[in-house]
Amino acid sequence: MNQHENPQHAWVLHTRRSTYALGVNAAGFLVHRYWGARLPDAGVPAAPESEGWASFNGPAQLLPEEYPAWGSGLSYVEPCLKATFADGVRALELRYVSVDVNGDTDLVIHLRDSHYPLVVSLFYRAHPDYDLVERFVAITNNGDAPVTLERAFSAQWHPPVGVQYRLSHLTGRWLDEWHIRRDALPHGTTRLESRRIMTGHQHNPWFALDDGEADEERGAVWFGALAWSGSWALTAEVTDFEATMTRVSLGVNDWDFAWQLAPGETFTTPTAVAGWTDGGFGAVSRAMHDYVRDTLLPHGGGKHKVLYNSWEATLFDVDEPGQTALAEVAAEIGVELFVMDDGWFKGRNHDRAGLGDWTPDAKKFPHGLTPLVERVNALGMEFGIWVEPEMINEDSDLYRAHPDWVIHSQNRQRTTARNQMMLNMALPEVQDYTIGWLDALLRNHKITFVKWDANRNVSEPGGWGGREPRELWVRYTQGVYRVFETMRARHPHVIFQSCSGGGGRADLGILRYADQIWASDNTEPAARISIQEGFSQVFPASVMEAWVTDAGTLPLDFRFAVSMCGALGIGANLLHWDAEARRQAREWVALYKEIRALVQLGDQYRLLPAQGQGYSAVQYMAKDASQGVLFVFRTHMAEPATFPMLHLRGLDADAQYMLDGIEGARSGAAWMRAGVQVPLKSEIVWAEGAMEYKIGDFTAAVRRIRRIGA
Ligand code: GLA
Repeated sequence: MNQHENPQHAWVLHTRRSTYALGVNAAGFLVHRYWGARLPDAGVPAAPESEGWASFNGPAQLLPEEYPAWGSGLSYVEPCLKATFADGVRALELRYVSVDVNGDTDLVIHLRDSHYPLVVSLFYRAHPDYDLVERFVAITNNGDAPVTLERAFSAQWHPPVGVQYRLSHLTGRWLDEWHIRRDALPHGTTRLESRRIMTGHQHNPWFALDDGEADEERGAVWFGALAWSGSWALTAEVTDFEATMTRVSLGVNDWDFAWQLAPGETFTTPTAVAGWTDGGFGAVSRAMHDYVRDTLLPHGGGKHKVLYNSWEATLFDVDEPGQTALAEVAAEIGVELFVMDDGWFKGRNHDRAGLGDWTPDAKKFPHGLTPLVERVNALGMEFGIWVEPEMINEDSDLYRAHPDWVIHSQNRQRTTARNQMMLNMALPEVQDYTIGWLDALLRNHKITFVKWDANRNVSEPGGWGGREPRELWVRYTQGVYRVFETMRARHPHVIFQSCSGGGGRADLGILRYADQIWASDNTEPAARISIQEGFSQVFPASVMEAWVTDAGTLPLDFRFAVSMCGALGIGANLLHWDAEARRQAREWVALYKEIRALVQLGDQYRLLPAQGQGYSAVQYMAKDASQGVLFVFRTHMAEPATFPMLHLRGLDADAQYMLDGIEGARSGAAWMRAGVQVPLKSEIVWAEGAMEYKIGDFTAAVRRIRRIGA
C-alpha cells in the first residue's frame, strides 16, 4: 500500500501480475481507477472526474463508483446499496470518512452518509499469488432509529471502458449442470440470479469477461465469484458512456429482500472475489483452483480417499446385511471410505417419510449403526453417511411435533417437492435441533465423512419468525452456515460434502465448510465429461467427487477414466459386478491412488475442451513440473477420424519427459510446442471378405507424464 498516496485518498493494490486501484475524486466520489496488468504506481490513472452529461445524467451515472448508493443525484446505474431511513428518506449520500491500511494487501475504506449516522465500510484484500482481490461490506447503523436495507451487494467491479465484452457464465438444470456459455453482453442490464434460497443448478455466481477473443491459453479476462450459498444476483450493466462502460455487481439477491438494521447493528455482506489474467480461461480456472484449495477448503485440497456410495445400488433399500455385503466387495477393490447414502434413518423406506427423524431405523439396523461402522472399519475403510438436515417429511415425528418449523406462508398450501418441505433454518431453535442430532450422530459413531444434501428449493417464503419477514433469505443461509461452523469446530476431522440434488449448492461460500461437492446426479460418463469440464471452470478437481456407476452402457475403462478426473468414487452395485469387472476395478483404483495427488492438487489444463466435440483432453501437472497425467476421451467421431495434436502444458521446457505409450524422451519444449497425437482408433477387421469396424468411440487413454534425470 502506498501510504504516501493517502493524503490524496488514492490506493493501489498489487498482485503478482495485476493492479487494482481506487481513490476519492475531487468531487468526493469513491471511484475505480484501474484494474488490469500490473502497473508501477506512477502509471496508475488518477481518479476520474465527471460533471455528468447533458441534463439527463449526473456525475454518478458516468463515474465508475466502487460502491454506488442509490437515491442522490442523476444516477440510474445499478447501485450496490439501497436503503430507507426511519423518517421515510430513501436517498443515500455516501461520503469518504477514513481508511485503515493493513500492510500491502488489506484496506478498509469507511464511508458515511452525509446526514444520517449510517457507516458503510468497504473491505479489500489482495491475494498476490492468485491475482485476486476479495471484497465485502459492513453496514452499521449508528443512529437511534432503524434503517431498512433493500439492497446490499458485496461489490461492483469495473473492467476497462471502451470494450464490448463477452460474458462467460455457467447454466444448467437438475441432472444437467455446468454448461459453459459465452454470450456477448448486450447494452442494458443482464441479470443472473437465484431466487431459490440456494445457489441453484440454473446459474452459478461466477463470471468471466473478455473481449471475445480469449481462449483457454490466451487473452485478458476479468473474472469473479460470490461466496454465498443462498439467493444471489449478478448484474452486468453496459451503458453508452465512454463508448461502452461495463459494471458487474455481485451480492445477496435483492429480490424480496429487506433487512431491518436496528440501532447499533451491522449487516455484513458475503465476500465477492475477482481477478485479472492475460492467460485466458485456463489461467482463470487455475487461479480459482489455487485460491479455493489454499484459502477456503477446511482441509486444503486434500488427497481425498476413494469412496464407495450406496445410493445408486440400493436406493432406499438399505440395511445392515445389504450394506455389509457391498462393503466387503468395496474393500476388495481398494475403496478407502464407505458411504451409506439415503434410507438408513427411521421410517425411510421411500421418499415420502422419515426426513427429520435422524435415528437409525430399528428394522434395518436393530443394533444401531455401530455394528456396520465397526465392520467397515475392520475391512480397512472409514465410514461416511448421508444426511439432509434442512428438510422434513410430513410423515415424520419431527413434523408432528413442530409443524411450525416449516417455511410456509399463512393461508397458503405448503408445496411439497419430492414429498418434502423445508425447515426454517433461520430459527435458532431449528439450528439448535439440527446441531443436536448431527453432533450426537458424529459423537456416537466413527464417522469421517458427511454428505449434506438438500433436495428442493423454497416455496411460499413466509416470514422467518422475526421482525422483517424478508430477512428470511439471508437468515436461512446464515443458519445453515452456523450449523456447519459448529460441526466444523466440534468435529474438525470430518469431511463434509455439499450436495443439493447434485450441483445445486456449489459456491465459494459452502467451500469454507465442505471440502467436496457432488457436481451432478448425472453419472452417465459421456454426459459427465462436459459436466466436469464446466465445473472445472471454477472449482478444482479435489472438490469434485466423481463416481463410476452402472448408468448407461459404456465400457468400464471409459467410466473409470472419466471419474478419475476428480476425486474418484464408485457408486455402482458391486454385487452385480463379476470377477473380471472387480479385477479391472482394482487395477483402476490402484492407478488412481498413484495419480490422485496430481489430479487433486496439480494444475489443470483443458488441452482440448469437449464442448460438444467428440474428442477431448485434459492434463493435470504437479506444481513442480516433475510429473503429470494426461486423459484423452473419444466419445463419437465419424470415420475416418483424424486426431488433433495435443500440446502439453506446464512442463519445464528444458527438461526431458517421457509420456506413457510413446517411445523415447523429448524435451518439455517439444511436448508443448510440437505436441503429440494420441489416437483412439477404430479397428477395421476383414471377416470373410466383408469389412467390419470395431468403432473406437467411447474409449479413453490415461497416460502418465514423467520428467527424467535431474
Ligand atoms: C440426491 C443426491 C443423490 C442421493 C439422493 C438420495 O438426489 O444428489 O446423490 O443422495 O439425493 O435421496
